[in-house]
Amino acid sequence: MDHFLYRDGALFAEDVPVAEIAAQVGTPFYCYSSATLTRHFKLFDDALSGMPHLVCYAMKAASNQAILKTLAALGAGMDVVSGGEYARAKAAGVPGERIVFSGVGKTRDEIHTVLTGGIRQFNVESEPEMAVINEVALELGLVAPITIRVNPDVDAKTHAKIATGKAENKFGIPISRAREVYAHAARLKGLKIVGIDVHIGSQLTQLEPFEQAYRKVADLTEALRADGHEITRLDLGGGLGIPYTRSNDAPPLPVEYGALVQKTLGHLGCEIEIEPGRLIAGNAGILVSKVIYVKQGEDREFMIVDAAMNDLIRPAMYEAHHDIVSVIEPEAGLEQGRYDIVGPVCETGDTFAKERVMPPVVAGDLIAFRSAGAYGAVMASEYNSRPLIPEVLVHEDQFAVIRRRPTLDEMINRDTIPEWL
Ligand code: LLP
Repeated sequence: MDHFLYRDGALFAEDVPVAEIAAQVGTPFYCYSSATLTRHFKLFDDALSGMPHLVCYAMKAASNQAILKTLAALGAGMDVVSGGEYARAKAAGVPGERIVFSGVGKTRDEIHTVLTGGIRQFNVESEPEMAVINEVALELGLVAPITIRVNPDVDAKTHAKIATGKAENKFGIPISRAREVYAHAARLKGLKIVGIDVHIGSQLTQLEPFEQAYRKVADLTEALRADGHEITRLDLGGGLGIPYTRSNDAPPLPVEYGALVQKTLGHLGCEIEIEPGRLIAGNAGILVSKVIYVKQGEDREFMIVDAAMNDLIRPAMYEAHHDIVSVIEPEAGLEQGRYDIVGPVCETGDTFAKERVMPPVVAGDLIAFRSAGAYGAVMASEYNSRPLIPEVLVHEDQFAVIRRRPTLDEMINRDTIPEWL
């Protein structure tokens, strides 16, 4: 459930008409709902309420300061994957003890920054990385809390580009080698083992792959404890999928996921961490765009809109489906149109949808891409010299621009001209 609903014939974000925001901010822009962000965070928090836990929002999904502050105020921790994300989390007021640091290629500099700034734990991805974390910690006279990310070799049954838990993927250490690697970690004086980490992929639409992975983690916890390690924390990653369409086969709910965690891991008495990104932010955001032209092709009609693949790359990159709706509620009984919905970028891949059946539009109409809150704005680029588009946050009947549209001069003036030119 989200807070983008039709009311009095128009699409609202909470209590604000989307068209009113468009009139003030101009299109295209991203629009987020505070109430939906809050609701989704609480669903996870409640789902794990029977166990000691921390929901660490995977801020790669949407990392605007205002979004981070909204979630941090509810008690969220953050899952960060770069020095940049760590700095953003800190800037939003998240204390180090609520930040976990994931990612396969943590640099020495990032490790240094994070250790000095404070961190809940590193989710270690390899032995070479473990060695560097140990070295930097010893140099600083600190002890780095770590989990080791294990790769459980489980098929997440999702898009290949976002599956991370198979042996062929670059993530984690093979679970078969875990005891050996933990034994090695225990000998390093700059490290303190606190638990185990696993993350098998994103947009999972079934619980079964989670169950397989978590059962393996449960067995590993017992094996590692028998080896003398203190395993007090289990970081279970993110990955629970969201409904991208209004069909009936919606992915499992956070409450069902929470019950699975309790069933597979509850008996171990560990603190549970999870790292959801998409489920918190995805349906909490829309991308609002304007129809520039409707053009008749040989055998189809093109709807050319002012958003493009540089603003929302998911359809081009993962063949992702986003529901696209009119901002003015279509009259009932209107004959549907059928459009290839495309942006202005000079690539055929700049196609949001093919043969999409929706109410007819004319130039100037506003449309909204639903479920665009996660992996939308954060994956945008300035390709075709299209400046990054603004982000707006709605809270009840108020809205605020939380990232403004840069001017063309700002974009151009980031370049510098060498003296020989
Ligand atoms: N934890 C780790 C270690 C991750 O790598 C990810 C996502 C998450 C948590 C959050 O997963 P979520 O709950 O959002 O599924 N750009 C792609 C998704 C990439 C996901 C990368 N890792 C997309 O637009 O579908």
